[in-house]
Amino acid sequence: MNKKLIIGNWKMNMNESDSYTFFDEIKKNNNHFVHEFAIIPPAPLIISIKKYLKKNNINNWVKIGIQNFYPKDKGAFTGEISIKMFEDNTLDYLLVGHSERRLFFNENNQFAIEKALYALKNSNAKIVFIFGETLEQRKKGNLENIIKEFLEKLISEITFEDLERFIFAYEPIWSIGTGKIPTIKEIEEIFLIIKEILKSKFKGKDVNISKLIYGGSVNEVNYKLFLNSNLIDGLLIGGVALESHKFISILKNE
Ligand code: PGA
Repeated sequence: MNKKLIIGNWKMNMNESDSYTFFDEIKKNNNHFVHEFAIIPPAPLIISIKKYLKKNNINNWVKIGIQNFYPKDKGAFTGEISIKMFEDNTLDYLLVGHSERRLFFNENNQFAIEKALYALKNSNAKIVFIFGETLEQRKKGNLENIIKEFLEKLISEITFEDLERFIFAYEPIWSIGTGKIPTIKEIEEIFLIIKEILKSKFKGKDVNISKLIYGGSVNEVNYKLFLNSNLIDGLLIGGVALESHKFISILKNE
C-alpha cells in the first residue's frame, strides 16, 4: 500500500499533559509507521507541544496544524487567532471549513474560501479544505452540484502552482462522529467529480498534485477499507485520534 496521509483532529479535547503522553507513545512507535501523519491540537497547546517535540528530538517529522484561525494578520478581533502569532513554519497544516465551524459558528463557504486564500498568501502550510453534504442534501440527490458549490469558486481563484498546497477533505456531515460511513464507491464517485472540476480548470495538467482525503467515523478497524482505494490519499480522523494506541495502529497499518 502507498504511503497515505493521516490527519488527527483533536477538536476541543486533550490538555497539555495528555498531549505529552500521546507524543511519548508516538516516539516509542515511530520506527514502524507506514503512513505520514499530522496532529491538529487545540490552538492553546500548539506552542508547548512544539517545545516538547523539540526537546524530544521528534520535531522534524511530527507535523502540527491548527483547527481554526481568522484571516487577518492582527487587529481588533477579540478572541480570534492569527496564524502570524506562530513563528514561521510552525504550522504545517491549516484546517478550513470543518462542518463544526460551519454549523456551530456560522461560517459559510464564502468565509472558508476567504480563509483558504488568506492562508495561501500568508503561510507555507498545507491547506485542508473540508466540505461535505448533509443527510437532507444527500437524500435530495444531485451531489455533483453540491460538491461544485463547495469547490468551484475556490478552485477558480487558485493557480496550478497553488494546487500542491491543497488537501481536499470530503467529510459527509451525516458521517462525522455517528459511526455511519459511505461506501468506498460513493466516496470514489465524489473524488472523480472533484478531479473533473480540477481538470476543467487546469486543462492538460496533472491535478493529482493535490490530495483527496476522506473523514467521518474512521476507526482502527474500518480504515483499511478507505486506504485500499487508489483514489483516497488519506484520512481525517476525529474521535480515534484521541486514543494513541488506536491512532498508532492506523499509522502502522496493522
Ligand atoms: P470523527 O470526526 O472521526 O470523530 O467522525 C471526523 C472529523 O470531524 O474530522
